[in-house]
Amino acid sequence: MKVGVIGAGTMGSGIAQIAATASCQVQLFDKQNTALEHSKTQLDKILNRLIEKKRISVEEKQHIQLNINYTASLSDLNKCDLVIEAIVENLEIKQQVFQDLEKIVGAGTILASNTSSLSIASIASALAKPERCIGMHFFNPAPLMKLVEVIPAVQTSDHVVQKSLQILTDWKKSPALAKDTPGFIVNRVARPFYGEALRIYEEGIANFVTIDWAMKHFGKFRMGPFELMDFIGNDVNYTVTETVFKAFYYDQRYKPSFTQKRFAEAGYLGRKSGKGYYDYAENVQNPNP
Ligand code: NAI
Repeated sequence: MKVGVIGAGTMGSGIAQIAATASCQVQLFDKQNTALEHSKTQLDKILNRLIEKKRISVEEKQHIQLNINYTASLSDLNKCDLVIEAIVENLEIKQQVFQDLEKIVGAGTILASNTSSLSIASIASALAKPERCIGMHFFNPAPLMKLVEVIPAVQTSDHVVQKSLQILTDWKKSPALAKDTPGFIVNRVARPFYGEALRIYEEGIANFVTIDWAMKHFGKFRMGPFELMDFIGNDVNYTVTETVFKAFYYDQRYKPSFTQKRFAEAGYLGRKSGKGYYDYAENVQNPNP
């Protein structure tokens, strides 16, 4: 099967790795050559680590790498059976990409979006054939996380839903059908986890470290809310919260935090920028109690 992935960032790179591991021929497209180069280098490191852990062989590494073509030309996706978009979380930009894509792919190509919070119906509405559009929401890190939310828009055909579920099962994922509502399942449930943690900090009840420690030590969460926001990226996490808040008609339960907004504006994005609620610069110890 031929798979196109649009956006070679955190999620697109992971999705390309999944499809290539499942022996699909992958075209990974990004408008920035630097993103493509970074994605290629990162995959090499990830696969080397998997070899060290004896999870894959050298031959399997080569097979996965050979299955991915890194491209800055959208027309290379013209033969794809499925295209998954994982670019910036912005409706107009996503709609434009889907329209450009529809001009070059075949009539039967499924066009999926990895959006965390935008309505699939509004993305599909930009297409001449909206019935081919569906949400496929992977979780970070995509190659490790089994769950993928599958979100049909009101326009999506049953055939596209069934085919999407089948493909994800073939990729050894656990697809869960969800309705096209803000945040779908996981991002909606997770909003109060981040939001209340930020409010506890803002009200001076406890600091980041204490909140994370309490949630991990007593709540048995694998990561505390601040560690998780740093992992996801404060820019991405803030945008999702803001979108869910607006989409639920400004319901105060989902109100975004000024602390997180300022962190995102300051470039304190988390792990990816070297600083967030914690410091990830080399030689600086994370303040884990
Ligand atoms: P990212 O910022 O790491 O990567 C986005 C990539 O898209 C960049 O390489 C950028 O150059 C490229 N791009 C932007 N506009 C483009 C265009 N018009 N054409 C081609 N390439 C373009 O973003 P990330 O974190 O991978 O997120 C991507 C999408 O996945 C967003 O919709 C986000 O909400 C969603 N998502 C993110 C998760 C996360 O934990 N980061 C989890 C699940 C979904």
